[in-house]
Amino acid sequence: MTLLRIDSSARRKNSKTRMLTDFFMNELNKKNEQTVISRDVGIYPPNFPTDDFIKANYTPETVRTSKMKEILEPSDILIQELIDADKIIIASPMYNFSISATLKAYIDNIVRVGQTFAIDKNGAMQGLLGGKKVVVITSRGAMSYKLGGALQPFDFQTSYLTKLFNFLGITDIIFVNTEGQDFGEEPLKTSNLEQSKQELSELAKTW
Ligand SMILES: Cc1cc2nc3c(=O)[nH]c(=O)nc-3n(C[C@H](O)[C@H](O)[C@H](O)COP(=O)(O)O)c2cc1C
Repeated sequence: MTLLRIDSSARRKNSKTRMLTDFFMNELNKKNEQTVISRDVGIYPPNFPTDDFIKANYTPETVRTSKMKEILEPSDILIQELIDADKIIIASPMYNFSISATLKAYIDNIVRVGQTFAIDKNGAMQGLLGGKKVVVITSRGAMSYKLGGALQPFDFQTSYLTKLFNFLGITDIIFVNTEGQDFGEEPLKTSNLEQSKQELSELAKTW
């Protein structure tokens, strides 16, 4: 069982997503042995796509120059980690109603035709990462993104990540969302965190 952990908070300390993901990993370790790959894109952001990257990516593999291969290498490494993983945990802070730019940069590196999705002659696309399981652990500063909440229409984080992973062929996606971590009042702020820990403990028993 290989587990890929991806952190994407810019915070080095007091990051709620890092803390909750540490907690979940600890709960999982209680259950069984796993090979863990850790990728911290919040602290070590992947490259943004450049003109050279796009040209190299869109050049068929068999005719790529050694320079093109070199340009694609960091992306190849990220894709290989993803292919090797049976389970993926993503720690995702909400930034401006969506994901962090560093997580988006990661996604721009791992969504590649022929590697993580395929297109047939008619233009129909198919994800190539089927069978993997994903848990996304989010934290938000404000309250009420949950169903029926005032900010629910602004939650582009869960909708985007769900569609993105669906596109890559992954349908088993579970979100554990913690709200009110910057602007929430106590005791709600702490009880929201505790609630998420409880959800993660339960999830660790079956995931
Ligand atoms: C650049 C930035 C943008 C943010 N945008 C939002 C937002 O749109 N909505 C929200 O509820 N909280 C927002 N927050 C608050 C974070 O979601 C909150 O601090 C969360 O706990 C971040 O995760 P972390 O603790 O793991 O860093 C933002 C924080 C930062 C630094």
